[in-house]
Amino acid sequence: MIFYFSGTGNTRWAAQRLADRLDEQLIYIPEMTERDCRFILEKGERLGFVLPVHGWRPPQIVRKFIQKLVIEGAMDYTYVLWTAGDSIGKATEILSGDLRKREIELHSAFSLIMPESYVGLPFMDVDPQEKEIAKRQKAEKDLSGFIKDIEERKKGVVRTVKGPIPSFFSGPVGGFFVRHLITDKPFHVERKKCVKCGICADVCPVHDIIGGLGKEPMWKHNGTCLSCFTCYHHCPHHAIEYGNRTRKKGQYFFGRNHR
Ligand SMILES: Cc1cc2nc3c(=O)[nH]c(=O)nc-3n(C[C@H](O)[C@H](O)[C@H](O)COP(=O)(O)O)c2cc1C
Repeated sequence: MIFYFSGTGNTRWAAQRLADRLDEQLIYIPEMTERDCRFILEKGERLGFVLPVHGWRPPQIVRKFIQKLVIEGAMDYTYVLWTAGDSIGKATEILSGDLRKREIELHSAFSLIMPESYVGLPFMDVDPQEKEIAKRQKAEKDLSGFIKDIEERKKGVVRTVKGPIPSFFSGPVGGFFVRHLITDKPFHVERKKCVKCGICADVCPVHDIIGGLGKEPMWKHNGTCLSCFTCYHHCPHHAIEYGNRTRKKGQYFFGRNHR
């Protein structure tokens, strides 16, 4: 059983690869928000979490889901596979703590470095094309190795990139991120550019956008936005902006350039 979250598609790609290779069920965490989160593991079934890193921590939607998660049946192998633009900090330790509260022990952790999707700060942009290609090629290779470890249920494996001063980034910086930067308040649409195609509303993983074909998007401002920037990245006319911070920046989602 594989639980996953993905905004711009990097993590969906990895989760799908893994599910195909292991022949295991994929469960998309945003679809679970209103549902009973009790699952039964079959004998010998692995328990996997495939997640992007948000602010050097697990995404908020994932942490909320885990608070409700009940796993029944024998848990003999549990792992996490992260995707990140460059570093995960102490995301594994935070996830492991959340899981322990639900009596789930994490055995191994992996991370893939994937194209950058966060563009919400002035100094952050998508990767240049060459870097995006290089990251994708390395991720393909790394993922094959990780899948082998997971197939063989290798415990105690930590193949992650924590980056510098992980406690600082996952601690105070991650806390600031959650409090001040995970918000839909700055999102707005440039009316002259918007063609009312409805794509932004369709792709939002948490249904935070009132819109759809024939309508300009309106963000709900109800605390569900994850600032995953999926709406921004998918807009075919770069009509969505985040304050002034995304002007003239690039767009990215997995498979956009069909490379
Ligand atoms: C809100 C947000 C926060 C992010 N924080 C980090 C981070 O702390 N470290 C990092 O390396 N990448 C970070 N990224 C980049 C993503 O982790 C990375 O692009 C990931 O592969 C996106 O997965 P997805 O395409 O499945 O949504 C962040 C992206 C977003 C949208």
